[in-house]
Amino acid sequence: MSERIDPNKVPKRRLYTGEEIPALGIGTFGSDKYGPEEVSQAVYGAVKGGYRLIDGAAVYQNEDRIGEMLQKLYVEGVVTRKELFITSKVWNDSHRQVEASCRKSLADLKTDYIDLYFVHWPFPNYHAPGCDGDSRNPDSKPFSVEEFMDTWRQCEELVDKGLVRYIGMSNMTIPKLEAVLPLCRIQPAALELECHPSFQQQELFDYAVSHHMQPIGYCPLGSPSRPERDRTPEDVADTQLPEIVEIARAHGVHPVLICLKWAVQRGQIPIPFSVKEPQYLSNLRCITEDPLTEEEMARIAGADKNCRLVKGQVFLWPGASDWQDLWDLDGTITK
Ligand SMILES: NC(=O)c1ccc[n+]([C@@H]2O[C@H](COP(=O)([O-])OP(=O)(O)OC[C@H]3O[C@@H](n4cnc5c(N)ncnc54)[C@H](OP(=O)(O)O)[C@@H]3O)[C@@H](O)[C@H]2O)c1
Repeated sequence: MSERIDPNKVPKRRLYTGEEIPALGIGTFGSDKYGPEEVSQAVYGAVKGGYRLIDGAAVYQNEDRIGEMLQKLYVEGVVTRKELFITSKVWNDSHRQVEASCRKSLADLKTDYIDLYFVHWPFPNYHAPGCDGDSRNPDSKPFSVEEFMDTWRQCEELVDKGLVRYIGMSNMTIPKLEAVLPLCRIQPAALELECHPSFQQQELFDYAVSHHMQPIGYCPLGSPSRPERDRTPEDVADTQLPEIVEIARAHGVHPVLICLKWAVQRGQIPIPFSVKEPQYLSNLRCITEDPLTEEEMARIAGADKNCRLVKGQVFLWPGASDWQDLWDLDGTITK
């Protein structure tokens, strides 16, 4: 086994309660390319290697295998449940049965509680795992504050019942947050959002921080293995941005590691995915050594291309014009 990274050396982020959690975690979405076996093996190796935060979701269809690997890690004495920070997410087809979905994730993960439970998307719009980009569900609807709050109330009840410790939102926009935050009884602890050098979402990032939501950045490496439905010819590869390539050369490391150093130093929690041990270990190690300079951070801040990769077009409702409708670009909730 390769060198382990001491979890105490991994930088931490503070949630609104004051609790500290790791500043980087491992993603578990196999992008329709890596199956549950490979992903769960990676989680096993990652925890052995020093990871303590695992980003999961029911729709990734691998929580049962990950649960088995977690059991193995406890039995082998590698880690205790309390030392881990495990997230899961309710999928769009379960917004009216959140507790049932959460209980399924709990059973699959073989745990009594989930640390942070997200509403994965703010729409109840379902698409089958593995579908193509043109696939549409005729029952899809635009965002509704009432329906979202009904889902959020169910999440709040999970906290009341002790099934989850924190709740969070994902794939939100400022107009949607403006509408729902005043109605929340329990503060969302985190906002999961797409975040990488070519798509920094500075305004949404700042909004989350100022509302005490920890940003968790998905696709932190620009998701080079993302499904076909999330690819367009205009997409920019973060690892080919001249700023990233030159800084990587100066540090003598792979460009993805510059994306991760930048993410952690900026303040989001990146959740890079990899099933390859040298990759996932170097992803964690890189944030414990050789930080970027202020000048390098400023250079990367200037490299934003507003290049959203996960456009979400499969969630569009009848009558919507295009994927931009999901993201409220004119500053109001698109109906
Ligand atoms: N909330 C949401 O709606 C949402 C949406 C998307 C993702 N997520 C979460 O975010 C996580 C990360 O996003 P992602 O998996 O799409 O993309 P990502 O982490 O940006 O990219 C993952 C890919 O990068 C490559 N890679 C990883 N480490 C590397 C290294 N050290 N050197 C070179 N290449 C490396 C691997 O490609 P190869 O496979 O080619 O080796 C890997 O498959 C997901 O797993 C999931 O947990 C959440």
